[in-house]
Amino acid sequence: MALYGNPQLSGREKVFHDDEIIVSKTDLTGKLIYGNRTFYRMAAMNEKQTLGQQHNIIRHPEMPRTVFELLWNTIKDGKEIFAYVNNRSANGDNYWVFAHVTPSFDASGNITGYHSNRRNPKRQVIDSHIAPLYRDLLKIEQSGSSPKQGLQDAYDKVLSILSGAKMNFNEFMFSLGV
Ligand SMILES: Cc1cc2nc3c(=O)[nH]c(=O)nc-3n(C[C@H](O)[C@H](O)[C@H](O)COP(=O)(O)O)c2cc1C
Repeated sequence: MALYGNPQLSGREKVFHDDEIIVSKTDLTGKLIYGNRTFYRMAAMNEKQTLGQQHNIIRHPEMPRTVFELLWNTIKDGKEIFAYVNNRSANGDNYWVFAHVTPSFDASGNITGYHSNRRNPKRQVIDSHIAPLYRDLLKIEQSGSSPKQGLQDAYDKVLSILSGAKMNFNEFMFSLGV
């Protein structure tokens, strides 16, 4: 259960400063184990409300599942990913981020958890590229014969965009400008 989850969306967007970084860390299952001050301010929640909760506590309902599928496939494989993410505050506001998500390793090279740093993205990249792309992916996900098929179709759409652009996902994200 998302403790503070499912507030009505307010339709208001929040932004944070270019010199700020939103930081959070999770365990292997995606449960929050750390957030910095900027994380709590933007999420409009405190440590007590978030630590031990799944990171999807700030999930925005308009985010396509495909992006999170890609994220988890990549980090579980021991690799880093860069992605634009729209998040939801506890009061229903939203805020866009450009996120770097990476595994943390122990001395033997085992993954011990995950770590994310997020910057304020450029408005123009969101408006011209990311928001329309994510709207398309969400629509594809929702029009599949089943949720599983919808996710597969949207995932295939991303792969075909990458193959057309001859880029991997991270290169594609950076090619849009950061
Ligand atoms: C280190 C780390 C950071 C994450 N950051 C976010 C985030 O900022 N917003 C978000 O919605 N999901 C984030 N996720 C992904 C969530 O774990 C989850 O997959 C996503 O919210 C989708 O939730 P759902 O599977 O319940 O739909 C992060 C995961 C990890 C491991």
